[in-house]
Amino acid sequence: MAMSAAILVLALQMMALRSWAQRTASPAPGWAQRLETGTGTMTNLQFYFHDTFSGSNPSAVRVAEARDTDNSLTLFGALVMVDDPLTEGISPSSKLVGRGQGLYGSAGQSEVAFLMAMSFCFLDGVYNGSCLSVLGKNAALNYEREMPIVGGTGLLRFARGYALAQTQMANPINGDAIVWYNVTVFN
Ligand SMILES: *[C@@H]1O[C@H](CO)[C@@H](O)[C@H](O)[C@H]1NC(C)=O
Ligand SMILES: *[C@@H]1O[C@H](CO)[C@@H](O)[C@H](O)[C@H]1NC(C)=O
Repeated sequence: MAMSAAILVLALQMMALRSWAQRTASPAPGWAQRLETGTGTMTNLQFYFHDTFSGSNPSAVRVAEARDTDNSLTLFGALVMVDDPLTEGISPSSKLVGRGQGLYGSAGQSEVAFLMAMSFCFLDGVYNGSCLSVLGKNAALNYEREMPIVGGTGLLRFARGYALAQTQMANPINGDAIVWYNVTVFN
């Protein structure tokens, strides 16, 4: 009796251990890389951000401006709210891996400098439901910009790091843009 109870307990423990191992060993999806180090996890996430002002269902909308914004070459004072799809590939129809939700505002009078205050919330694989917070300057006309990642949730709790962004396409008439993000965080 005691023997079979002990075997049952052992079997249950092994099942629990196996499901724990399966959970923790879930591979990162293709657009992500996870590297466990002795002191934490290094994560690299690469995706495309689709900022679309045109069409009947824009994902980026200008919600406020200053009196002189439209006379400013840098659109100083314009505030844009976005709910932009993040995709695995450059094509808007490629796999959706998350959404960039938040706002950016033109904070430069003599240079194009946006203040980004945005969540990147992921929808794919092990990152489904986890978010990163971006907060910082985006000199959008530069070939490559660096922005701070100041925190995260879910699998990305306590994340800190940086995002490197490169514009892949920009339409000067309607403002539509596709930007490649290469994000590296540690937690
Ligand atoms: C992400 O999580 C939501 C809510 O739990 C679920 O409905 C959805 O199917 C998941 N998506 C993927 C791609 O796993
Ligand atoms: C993405 O950023 C990381 C960290 O800065 C860098 O090592 C890597 O080379 C970048 N990837 C590409 C494809 O540029």
